[in-house]
Amino acid sequence: MQIPVIGSTILFLDTVDSTNTELARISGNPETINGTAVLAFEQTAGRGRRGNSWLNEPNKDLTFSFILQKPAIKAEFAFLPVAAAAVASTAFLQQLVPQQKLEIKWPNDILCQEKKICGMLIENTFTGSQCAKTIVGIGINLNGTRYAETRFPATSVFIETEKNRDIKESLVDFLPFLNESFSMLFTHPEGLMKRYNSLLYGKNELKTIQVGEQRMLGKIKTVDMHGNPHILNENGQPIAARPDEIQFLPE
Ligand code: BTN
Repeated sequence: MQIPVIGSTILFLDTVDSTNTELARISGNPETINGTAVLAFEQTAGRGRRGNSWLNEPNKDLTFSFILQKPAIKAEFAFLPVAAAAVASTAFLQQLVPQQKLEIKWPNDILCQEKKICGMLIENTFTGSQCAKTIVGIGINLNGTRYAETRFPATSVFIETEKNRDIKESLVDFLPFLNESFSMLFTHPEGLMKRYNSLLYGKNELKTIQVGEQRMLGKIKTVDMHGNPHILNENGQPIAARPDEIQFLPE
């Protein structure tokens, strides 16, 4: 399989509802080649995980998506693009905020000093057990200073460093990190997961988590290739719950 080049084509849009939605709309067009990226300076209906909205002030932050057409990913490994995007985002951001601690809060939030600086929405379409397309949408809080209230408070590169960043240039600088990480997904997924696990927020530490309706302390040990976290409770017993029932809470 040929590994697609992410960002070999980039569409720059002043405004769009959501870059993920736009890519889904144009994904069938012949000119939407594998790896095409869409960047919008303003999203009017940015989407987050769990049906949440993703809100940014216009012309402040980096909001973009890219598409992988027919990637060689089986449905049971649908978590791997999440891991690749999270690892790439952390490595890229670490260059912009070198003094700060960056971590991946399972499954795919990037925290900077325990505040959210980046989120991602990965949307897969399957044909049988094979992935037909993956749309990876990433939002990085770059120059913004005002963010909607969320469970984990938000921060931005500007808030952390008092430096403004050019949005287009930032995407161009981000691409090598994405290409490296996604190439690892296809060639050495175990190595990718090792990197992901080395960046895990709360690894081997007791943190407050919500499991269904219940709040408890839990210690995340690892995340496997399917995206399942291995979490122990205060007594060292594995927490048996569906991944979608588990959420980390701020301390
Ligand atoms: C989350 O943390 O809930 C995920 C946020 C993902 C936001 C990005 S911004 C670019 C792309 N377009 C969207 O509508 N969402 C993603």
